[in-house]
Amino acid sequence: MWPTNALTARLNLQWPILQAPMGSASTPALAAAVSNAGGLGGLGMWGRSAEQAARRIAGFRQQSSGTLNVNYPIWPDPRCEPQAAAAMRRHLQTQYDAHGLGKVPEPAGKVSDVGPEHVALLLDTKPEAPSFHFGLPEPDTIDALKSAGIFILSSATTVAEARLLEQRGVDAIIAQGTEAGGHRATFTGIDMSMQPGLFALLPQIVDAVRVPVIAAGGVADGRMAAAALMLGASAVQIGTAFLRCEEAEVRDAHRAALAAADDASTVVTDVISGWPCRYIRNELIDNLVASGLKPLPVPAQQSLTQPLSETGDRDWTALTSGQSAALATATNAAELVERLADETSRRLRAFA
Ligand SMILES: Cc1cc2nc3c(=O)[nH]c(=O)nc-3n(C[C@H](O)[C@H](O)[C@H](O)COP(=O)(O)O)c2cc1C
Repeated sequence: MWPTNALTARLNLQWPILQAPMGSASTPALAAAVSNAGGLGGLGMWGRSAEQAARRIAGFRQQSSGTLNVNYPIWPDPRCEPQAAAAMRRHLQTQYDAHGLGKVPEPAGKVSDVGPEHVALLLDTKPEAPSFHFGLPEPDTIDALKSAGIFILSSATTVAEARLLEQRGVDAIIAQGTEAGGHRATFTGIDMSMQPGLFALLPQIVDAVRVPVIAAGGVADGRMAAAALMLGASAVQIGTAFLRCEEAEVRDAHRAALAAADDASTVVTDVISGWPCRYIRNELIDNLVASGLKPLPVPAQQSLTQPLSETGDRDWTALTSGQSAALATATNAAELVERLADETSRRLRAFA
């Protein structure tokens, strides 16, 4: 069965390996290298204008004629209660002062709903597989993309979410286990402690839906990719291992923390961005948790913590990572795809 199936055939992939579209960490160079190596490259469009998104897509197309996934998070208007915003700004002022950052700004951010400009861009540039995180945009947007023959991906953290996505017309579902680095994809408000890990989640989603299922969360080498395929996945989506590739845009402090991480380094929290996300634990997290303050909505909270991240101080930088960081190595994207393909093939042959 490896490496060909209905999903790889539809998306014209040599290997069922997706590089997760990771916000600003996923560069056109990274996505292009993955697609050129036979996988599916992904570009995050978190907070990007349609013009910026167009430039990123063009950057990919200049470097690859392969298949592209572009990813949009979906969130409502992040308007903050003035008192909550003032309390968070007061709290962060001490660290802004310690890092010479001046006055904590007013929180910023607007709705992320794949508005008409982005829809026009997608219809014009036709990335082969757009994906959505934290649910889906309005039905009109889904209908417009599907009418243009565009294949749609979206992530689920439970069987109920997978069923909802299938009902709304999603063409392939990414089963995101709790091991995953980055933001939790959940859009039904289910408590974090009730969300399953990938080993439990994946076969249950495979049984529940008819569309292809992609395994995400903690997959970092061929053993794990082979296990996911044996559990019924049509492909794997990998984020954290690609963060260690030279083409990824990752701050030095973040790279060093990934290199030093072990199996118990990470925690899921909403204190950095306003949405639950898995990071390597550091002082930024401990300090905000200890404050007892409720984070502002995403991305308003992130607009206040981002300047601290930009200082490059490891203790005060957002260190996004999944639980398998220690299985990843410093490499480049072509080598990583090749190694994953080779190791997975070997593991599957051993069971043939
Ligand atoms: C740094 C980072 C940023 C991420 N940003 C996004 C994103 O913008 N959109 C998205 O759909 N998934 C995002 N993810 C989550 C991935 O899609 C995927 O679920 C996850 O990386 C899989 O787990 P792994 O990191 O253990 O491989 C991100 C992951 C990481 C590590």
